[in-house]
Amino acid sequence: MTQLRWMTAGESHGPSLTVIIDGVVAGLPLRAEDINAQLARRQKGYGRGGRMKIESDTVSIESGVRDGHTLGSPIALRIVNRDHENWIGRMGAAPFDAPPEPVTLPRPGHADLAGVQKYDRRDARDILERASARETAARTAAGAVARVLLAQCGIEVCSRVRAIGSVRDEQDVSVDELFSSRTRLEESSLRVLSESAEARMRDEILARSHAGDTAGGVIEVVARNVMVGLGSHVHWDRRLDGQIAQAMMSVQAIKAVSIGDGIAAASRPGSEVHDPIGHSGAPPEFTRSSNFAGGIEGGMSNGQPIVVFAFMKPIATLRRALLSAHLDSKEPAPAAHERSDVCAVPAAGVVLEAMLCLTLASALLEKFGGDSLRELSRNVASYLQQLRDY
Ligand SMILES: Cc1cc2nc3c(=O)[nH]c(=O)nc-3n(C[C@H](O)[C@H](O)[C@H](O)COP(=O)(O)O)c2cc1C
Repeated sequence: MTQLRWMTAGESHGPSLTVIIDGVVAGLPLRAEDINAQLARRQKGYGRGGRMKIESDTVSIESGVRDGHTLGSPIALRIVNRDHENWIGRMGAAPFDAPPEPVTLPRPGHADLAGVQKYDRRDARDILERASARETAARTAAGAVARVLLAQCGIEVCSRVRAIGSVRDEQDVSVDELFSSRTRLEESSLRVLSESAEARMRDEILARSHAGDTAGGVIEVVARNVMVGLGSHVHWDRRLDGQIAQAMMSVQAIKAVSIGDGIAAASRPGSEVHDPIGHSGAPPEFTRSSNFAGGIEGGMSNGQPIVVFAFMKPIATLRRALLSAHLDSKEPAPAAHERSDVCAVPAAGVVLEAMLCLTLASALLEKFGGDSLRELSRNVASYLQQLRDY
């Protein structure tokens, strides 16, 4: 049973995006600024297209919050699409006076073709408007609420870009060093730790852009101070690793997810992959000399930082378009080109953070329950005492 329920609505060039989040405890301090700060982070990054210059996302809290605190009722958030004013007559609910030019050359790598066939549409715009990653602004807003909830229990989430195209940031740092580097990451144009890797990544993006091409990459997302025991081994759908993988894979263009060293571990001997258990004699008592497992064993958090790698495919809208087939004539022609990012890996990192926050907040509420922040905090404190007494 999912404790935190949420659902987004809205088209890319429609009037606005909406998200309703249900299950957040009452009494949580929550301000629009908490959400706007995350929305601003999602909009940055070298390689973004013209849309992000038009939008300057800010949230309107429509329900569920009073006097700076949650009420326990559904929280409705709305983000206006500023670009909508350029789409009046093409993106309204009322029947069109004059039908706009339809999109009839589906773009490979997008929802366009499967969508028009499945939903029996003749204009791929009917599909691409909702499939667009503009929707991730609403997820980011929901994730910001989850982040505030997690912070009350000491849990923090951050991310870094590990690779763009063929360029990797090889600089390894501890989890605490990573969290201490957040200012550097926010100042970086690509949310990358190593300055030399960042320069090479920018060159790669520029080269791909000049060639009419695009870039994908790898993002590392980390949560620290996650207590032992979120998720469970007893049912497939209660496994925290499964829930995280689903959440990450649901982000547009994410094509693979690795928990800890998951992908690399497949080729290594077990003796080099599993994390030996020790005991320190002081809280947190049980210790690990490594964290190849990425903080999850048997579908449960094990008290180590949760480390997730997400792999993003290159942006599918290409200026040097791939071949497509016309929906009506079926004749070959280059795919449609909408204004588009060349690389959105840094923005995807912020969205992935939001998805990890939502997944962990849901698991936290499932384990500890409570209708108010006081009740939740009491339940968490009592469990942490139980762990210390173990
Ligand atoms: C933050 C973010 C921004 C994106 N921006 C674009 C874009 O400008 N143009 C584009 O073609 N794809 C963009 N994408 C990727 C597409 O949304 C994605 O490739 C498409 O939905 C198909 O991927 P899927 O098969 O995983 O759904 C973006 C993805 C994310 C996460």
